[in-house]
Amino acid sequence: MRADMTIPTLLSEQLTAVLRSILGEALPTEFKASVTPSQDLRFGDYQSNAAMMLAKQAKMNPRALATQVIENFGDSEIATLEIAGPGFINFRVKSEYFAARTAAMLTDERLGVALVSQPKTIVIDFSAPNVAKPMHVGHIRSTIIGDTLGRLARFMGHKVITDNHIGDWGTQFGMILWGWKNILDQNELEKDPIEALLNVYKEVNSRCKEDETLLPLCKEELVKLQSGDAENLEIWQKCIAVTKIGLEKIYSQLDITFDYWLGESAYNDALAPLVEDLIGKGIARESDGAICVFSDGFHKPQNDPFLVQKDGEWCPVPAIIRKADGGFLYATTDLATLDYRSENFKADAIWYVVGAPQEKHFKQIFDIERMRGITGDFRHVAFGSILGKDRRPFKTRSGDTVSLQDVIDEAVTRATAVVEAKSPDMPAEEKTAVAQAVGIGAIKFAELSQNRMSDYIFDWEKMLALTGDTAPYLQNSYVRVRSIFRKIDGEFVAPKSLTISENAEINLARLLVRFGEVVPSTLDDCRPNLLAAYLYELAKAFHSFYEACPVLKSEGEVRETRLALCDLTAKVLKKGMGLFGINMPERM
Ligand code: ARG
Repeated sequence: MRADMTIPTLLSEQLTAVLRSILGEALPTEFKASVTPSQDLRFGDYQSNAAMMLAKQAKMNPRALATQVIENFGDSEIATLEIAGPGFINFRVKSEYFAARTAAMLTDERLGVALVSQPKTIVIDFSAPNVAKPMHVGHIRSTIIGDTLGRLARFMGHKVITDNHIGDWGTQFGMILWGWKNILDQNELEKDPIEALLNVYKEVNSRCKEDETLLPLCKEELVKLQSGDAENLEIWQKCIAVTKIGLEKIYSQLDITFDYWLGESAYNDALAPLVEDLIGKGIARESDGAICVFSDGFHKPQNDPFLVQKDGEWCPVPAIIRKADGGFLYATTDLATLDYRSENFKADAIWYVVGAPQEKHFKQIFDIERMRGITGDFRHVAFGSILGKDRRPFKTRSGDTVSLQDVIDEAVTRATAVVEAKSPDMPAEEKTAVAQAVGIGAIKFAELSQNRMSDYIFDWEKMLALTGDTAPYLQNSYVRVRSIFRKIDGEFVAPKSLTISENAEINLARLLVRFGEVVPSTLDDCRPNLLAAYLYELAKAFHSFYEACPVLKSEGEVRETRLALCDLTAKVLKKGMGLFGINMPERM
């Protein structure tokens, strides 16, 4: 058995070979028959439309071609084949094969997930809040999705570099510097630096609206900072240092780490030469005093990020990389950042986990790099908004943006109540740890079970429910599986072979084996929700199995097989949730 390949890959290889033997030259050399999971189990476990796709070209009847394929396929150790409808080929995996696969998974610490054959260096840019500016809920999404993508890619064998590209060099520092010198409460700063700086920013911002003499003073502070004034640089550095401490506190509660914290300011010195380089290469030019990049006509207008349609005409939307006053912009910094990552980190891929509103920005950045000859797997991993129950952007009662820290605190408080209700007798220390895992898990899973492009409603009751596709449901399923093993005498020793026959056993085994297909698929288009949906299916299949098939009361081989399926379920649930950064408590 080739356990290093998934079932659909193996079937696809065999099917392609058979098609080649039938069609000969008529089959394009690069053709690979697609084999996908069946939507409906009545049609087997996997199916292929290859015969239908090829029949036309080969001037054959699709059913006739499918029949020939099945005749030529021979006896497969994996599956039995059938024709369905106009020429689908259905594969029903043999229970012996599921048994062999699950047995192999029992001794495989990767649980059937093969490493990629060509590891890449992938930089993942996520979270990246702005110093002293309100953190918007988008940062929750970016932080959780980005961290998960990093874990998934690492597990697949890629070299992953996570980088927190914080906004540490914006115009907000004018107000903060003035505020630091005039209104900052040092005590508050020590207690909660992020909050203190945010309050200073908000206060100065609102004072500026009432007193018009103030804004020029703030601008003066900003100019002093930008031209290297020692006092302002020192304050600026302190702001960043305290912010980092505050952020680290949040990240550590979320169990999230970064390899680098190369904020926007890290690229300051690279900006001027970069702009000159772009001018020199004829990629950027002056327009109304500013330096801009316009379309080079490479794309069709509808795909051109430097054009927008207005009243039926295509109008230019250049990327500004230097303002008329000499200042640089977000785009300039991102170009320099991308250069750095591709040169210094030798990145093959750079994934930016940033909200959908920045789509145009990233399209332009990637296209400017194309003009400069810098290419790679550059992706804007976009996502939609988090909404309140009123379907409007999620805000606090007072209308402020919701801070990630507040979300964490509330999640843990609510999870404590859940644990309290379920296990009042649990020792206090364990209760705290479980509540932490359940609360944080609930936020993460609510995020990761969504299609990232859709907006979703932030709903405490739903995300903490013990039923449905939630972290607590999956954690509770894990706890139930693990509790079985506390009831057996001695250590559980996995059997070498399994005997799977009951439907509920087959259903569970089928899902367990799919783990090796689902995990890699999440990286195709950065879709962790595929894994979330899978884990939910797995937990449900486990519960059906547990109702249909007595485990501890069964005997001999049957008992061994069932215990092994339970053991694997626990392992896959734990590993899968671990790839989301979610802890699985042993009891709850
Ligand atoms: N600081 C930005 C924001 O809060 C996100 C930065 C994303 N990363 C990047 N390389 N542009 O919107």
